[in-house]
Amino acid sequence: MYSSIQLLKMVEEAIAALPLEHEPQKLYAPIRYVLSLGGKRIRPVLMLMAYNLYRDDVKPCLMSALGLEVFHNFTLLHDDLMDKAEVRRGKTCVHLKWDDNTAILSGDNMLVLAFKYMMMCDDQKMPAVMRIFTKTAIEIDEGQQYDVDFETRNDVTEAEYIEMIRLKTSVLLACALQIGATLAEAPEEDTQALYHFGECLGLAFQLQDDYLDVYGDPAVFGKKIGGDILCNKKTFMLIKALLHASDEDRAELQRWIDSKDCNPDEKIKAVTALYTKIGVDRMAKERMNAYYVKAEEYLAQVNLPEERKEMLHGIALELMGRQK
Ligand code: IPE
Ligand code: IPE
Ligand code: MG
Ligand code: MG
Ligand code: MG
Repeated sequence: MYSSIQLLKMVEEAIAALPLEHEPQKLYAPIRYVLSLGGKRIRPVLMLMAYNLYRDDVKPCLMSALGLEVFHNFTLLHDDLMDKAEVRRGKTCVHLKWDDNTAILSGDNMLVLAFKYMMMCDDQKMPAVMRIFTKTAIEIDEGQQYDVDFETRNDVTEAEYIEMIRLKTSVLLACALQIGATLAEAPEEDTQALYHFGECLGLAFQLQDDYLDVYGDPAVFGKKIGGDILCNKKTFMLIKALLHASDEDRAELQRWIDSKDCNPDEKIKAVTALYTKIGVDRMAKERMNAYYVKAEEYLAQVNLPEERKEMLHGIALELMGRQK
């Protein structure tokens, strides 16, 4: 079996070798730019790991894995535009380094490239793979729309939040594992258990992303801290803060949510202080842990010897402690 470091290296080399030296420059330069900035490459690595559970040579899965990473990077171009983000992976976002139209069109091209690469797999399994992939891509759009809709709502429930992050984030991790298992012709029960493992891991992953958006170190996280607070994103922490705050703290939180022309740094500082006072940082960590435990329960259902699943245990643990 391959180690996660070997798989990561394989993914990085294959991304660097993609034929993206193409005209027009303004379409392809941003694609090369975002793909060269690294990132954790968690989705293609998960796909290759799932495949590697059943098959020794992972090469037949590599192009589909790249397709998933290109797809993920497409979502980031559009997401950064929608979220008014400035920094991604420690570098200027595409919509600022170039312009909004570039982020839209280069992003669109990446979406199509993602389908092209995803299809480069075994002909017999390709329809099943594409069914999973298209279903997931549509779910992500739905999740992203809920994410935007929730910015202007103040009555978002915890259940609505969980469903929103399941759609915008978790299903992509789950789909990575499901496609890897499908290409490897894994038993159906294993494929389903791997999907649910990815789904729970993805929920914990987005909770951690939201946590780091407030409490992370910008130098390590690679994104500007406080972006979610400025957009009034209905994160688990904001929902819990509104629920558990004293009347006085809730009124203050609501004033910051409603404020239009406030100083952004002041808003981030004040809302963060309220979060910490109310204790929602701890609540987010507890919930993250609960999903991690659930993920492990699904992994236990995968009918393989423990030692073959070690890599997936390892990556789950790594993601729980991640700071970026
Ligand atoms: C960022 O994904 C978008 C979310 C779903 C939170 P990652 O945290 O996997 O970003 P990279 O690819 O490692 O930069
Ligand atoms: C990410 O949500 C979801 C998608 C990109 C589909 P976020 O908006 O929290 O991701 P970051 O924090 O910008 O990476
Ligand atoms: Mg964002
Ligand atoms: Mg977003
Ligand atoms: Mg985020």
